[in-house]
Amino acid sequence: MLRNLIIVGNWKMNPASGKEAERIFKSVQNSAAGQSRVVICPPALYLSRLKKIPGKTLLGGQNCFPGEAGAFTGEISSEMLYDAGARYVILGHSERRTMGETNAEINGKIRAALVAGLSPILCVGEKERDEGHKYLDFIKEEAQECLKGVAKNSFSGIILAYEPVWAIDKSATRESAPEEFREMYIFLRRILSDKFGREAAEKVRILYGGSVSPKNAAGFLSEGGADGFLIGRASLDPKKFSKIIELCDQSGN
Ligand code: PGA
Repeated sequence: MLRNLIIVGNWKMNPASGKEAERIFKSVQNSAAGQSRVVICPPALYLSRLKKIPGKTLLGGQNCFPGEAGAFTGEISSEMLYDAGARYVILGHSERRTMGETNAEINGKIRAALVAGLSPILCVGEKERDEGHKYLDFIKEEAQECLKGVAKNSFSGIILAYEPVWAIDKSATRESAPEEFREMYIFLRRILSDKFGREAAEKVRILYGGSVSPKNAAGFLSEGGADGFLIGRASLDPKKFSKIIELCDQSGN
């Protein structure tokens, strides 16, 4: 099957200045000339600034409010993200779940994002793997509760990112293996297929995230069958990020 790969850079709360954000973004623009789709999700404050830099790279947010404009101090709505240049939004990231975000809240955010014309990148992932495979029930619950009530016709705009919490960031206990992702890829596709039908489910891209690097990316693409990546640390390192884009350009599409 032809695959159109997506590489999403999650800059989290980095870098510390708009000037540095421009520098990194410009180098991403230079390497994002191939057929893979590259999406950078910077802190929302930088979106308008980065939107002005010409090139193929698309932009996304890292969170949004589950409703429209109003009296919600400190919040940013999906319409505002769209207006600032975002076309995607990461939702349900484990770092936000650790801050208390629930599946029900994420569900509200997904619906709001779809209404505003943003493609939600829904993150799911277990904190640990147990021998009795309870983590599969956990993932199923996350996916089902977060996607509750989402209409079949808007569903194809959604992207899934499987990010095992134990493999993310500096606190990762070990690297995930491509075959572990493969198992989850098949499992998630079955959940989507049961809910939305096979045809709709097949259109959804399932990304891998968690310590992705130029060293392990090829394995997740070939053995894991990933439709792309959600990348944290390596997305702030232009050299590493462009190498991963290159591997995706060679592998997919
Ligand atoms: P990492 O982060 O690539 O630095 O492990 C991934 C993520 O948190 O999305």
